[in-house]
Amino acid sequence: MNLTASSTKSAARKAVKRSTLSPNGKAKKVKTVGVLTSGGDCSGLNPTLRALVKTLINDYGVKVIGYRDGFRGMIENDYVELDYKSVSGIIDKGGTILGTSNKANPFRQYQPKTGEFKDVSKKVIADAKKLGIDALVAIGGDGTMSMAARFTDMGLPTVGIPKTIDNDLMATDLTFGFHSAVQVVCEAIDRINTTAMSHHRVMVIEAMGRYAGWIALYGGVAGGADVILIPEIPYSVESVAKVCERRNKQGKGFTIIVIAEGAKPIGGELTVQKIVKDSFDQIRLGGVGMQLATQLEQWIPRLEVRVTVLGHLQRGGSPIAFDRLLSTRFGVHAAHMVMRGEFARMAALRGNEIVSVPIAEVAGKNKFVPLDHDLIRAAKSVGTSFGEPEA
Ligand code: F6P
Repeated sequence: MNLTASSTKSAARKAVKRSTLSPNGKAKKVKTVGVLTSGGDCSGLNPTLRALVKTLINDYGVKVIGYRDGFRGMIENDYVELDYKSVSGIIDKGGTILGTSNKANPFRQYQPKTGEFKDVSKKVIADAKKLGIDALVAIGGDGTMSMAARFTDMGLPTVGIPKTIDNDLMATDLTFGFHSAVQVVCEAIDRINTTAMSHHRVMVIEAMGRYAGWIALYGGVAGGADVILIPEIPYSVESVAKVCERRNKQGKGFTIIVIAEGAKPIGGELTVQKIVKDSFDQIRLGGVGMQLATQLEQWIPRLEVRVTVLGHLQRGGSPIAFDRLLSTRFGVHAAHMVMRGEFARMAALRGNEIVSVPIAEVAGKNKFVPLDHDLIRAAKSVGTSFGEPEA
């Protein structure tokens, strides 16, 4: 360790002793920090845990407790101490070493015996206090951020770190996991291109993203898709059929369509695959790609249409370098936020800077693709259709 690094660390330790504040403004030294990963997993959770835990141990000498499977671990008191060794060698690993859940919710916990929901938040906080936890770091999406804000109000100071492949969280330019998912879509298009060309087919690729079109837009543009359909721009099946027909006449012989799971035809509804009763967001989307293919076949019966649903491939596997960097920056920043007493706030990316924003700006909201987004304009300039009605 060089002199500069070591003096920075001792300065940081002294700063903690002097100035860490509890939410009521009284000085309180943070000795133990709890952490959990909650909601759907994505690439980048492990590098985030690594960065957070190592910074808390290295810079502040703090003990870290990891809850297993998100809020389930808090509800059931299922935890493990995260030491330096337990977070070593995981920067390249997908998933989360802690496990996660998009069902457990201390404010509305499903009771399988009665089918009812119960608020167990007070007990959860009391149990965390018994464990000696002074502050919590919640790594998750908008549902997790809402809970983090409520925990802070109830006396368990919490810091948020944004994650989701969907990139639909407000107040941060990007969430980690998003670009790794985009890479999967891009590589899928590259592969599907060759088989589409060989068979002169129309290929529909369904991407995730819930109610926002970020993954389909970025992945579609990166892969050079001919048609990109996103929830923010309802599509006309006739227009999409015309693109396929035109490309066929021009001798291109194949068409690549990327459709977001939340896309809908003009005047149509979301395509719901199932309802998961005990989940944060009960709706699971899926099937719009197949629906589009069936409709297209009626418009262009001479062309063959095939569908690929990318599904959870977009969430799994090693994070790409970009997401490892973003996760590391978020994890380190969140550790400093905890020690500076910046609670009820979330680490966020603004431009090229990591900052912290009030969780209230994020909780319960969605960030959609603006219609004037430069990638939409760029895609249109290179001839990509968004399925809008043709004049
Ligand atoms: O929010 C992430 C996400 O992968 C969405 O893109 C998708 O709609 C949903 O989660 C799938 O959830 P589950 O893992 O419960 O099937």
